[in-house]
Amino acid sequence: MIRDIQEEILRLKKEKDVCILAHSYQTCDILEIADFVGDSFALSKLAKTAPNKTVLMCGVRFMAETCKLLSPEKKVILSSPHAGCPMAEQFEPEDIEKFKAENPGSAVVAYINTTAKLKTKCDVCVTSASALSIVGKLEEKDILFIPDPNLGNYVAKNFPEKNIKVINGGCPIHGAIKVDEVKAVKEEHPDALFLVHPECVPEVVELADYVGSTSGIMKYAKESQHKEFIIGTEISITAQLQMACPDKKFYSLSKDLICPDMKATTLVDVLNCLKGEGGEEIVMDEETIKAAVKPIEKMLELG
Ligand code: 13P
Ligand code: SF4
Repeated sequence: MIRDIQEEILRLKKEKDVCILAHSYQTCDILEIADFVGDSFALSKLAKTAPNKTVLMCGVRFMAETCKLLSPEKKVILSSPHAGCPMAEQFEPEDIEKFKAENPGSAVVAYINTTAKLKTKCDVCVTSASALSIVGKLEEKDILFIPDPNLGNYVAKNFPEKNIKVINGGCPIHGAIKVDEVKAVKEEHPDALFLVHPECVPEVVELADYVGSTSGIMKYAKESQHKEFIIGTEISITAQLQMACPDKKFYSLSKDLICPDMKATTLVDVLNCLKGEGGEEIVMDEETIKAAVKPIEKMLELG
């Protein structure tokens, strides 16, 4: 049954000239039919270079929006309209306007996990992989880092000379991991290296042997001479690493590291989108695109 749906998807995507992008947190059946698999920003850059006029994003809304911002000439479809990232949708543009009015001269740094409308009010974007290098290059000493206080605090720790403010909130999945859980898994697997996403709370990040983005964690584990790893990010990454490196052992930090929004997309959703019966086309007016792409361009310029 799964095979039949996958074959129909592969046939339709060729017939309709659609590029399918899948974030690495998607389920295996979706990763198998994707043209590209990767982290959020890598996918948006790949969408731009893909020859296809239509892009189908299997991920969450801000990822489809970032694709549209970088490729406004393309038709970008979000495969499951209900898949949003609660962290990306945490603030409204008015919150940023208010902060700017009260803090003139401050830079607003936005993690790429933000809505397009929020990006229109920000100065520069960062990814979890580029946050340190980009913030290090900013002239401003006073910074508001949104929306993830954990990533913001991780950056702030590396730049004690800057005044970096954060706002409560963050990723409900990574942010829920407790230090005690980490200690227990480390005790169970004393020879394993602990690799963690900076969206976890600082006390958890402090216990890590490596801190990095989804793709950073995967690269580190694949290239390491080490044989055992505890993976402190979404559970799909543990499974994918185990498949890619059968001679190594990977342990998930917690069975609760599952993002329901990332898992919202099903193969049937993808099939329906290709039939023109589902999904949601990302539509933005020119003014929003122009303003929201600016902080992304600044990130690329500084990066
Ligand atoms: P990446 O930017 O590493 O793909 O992460 C996206 C995300 O949602 C992490 O939780
Ligand atoms: Fe958002 Fe967290 Fe899910 Fe990533 S894992 S999409 S940050 S809720």
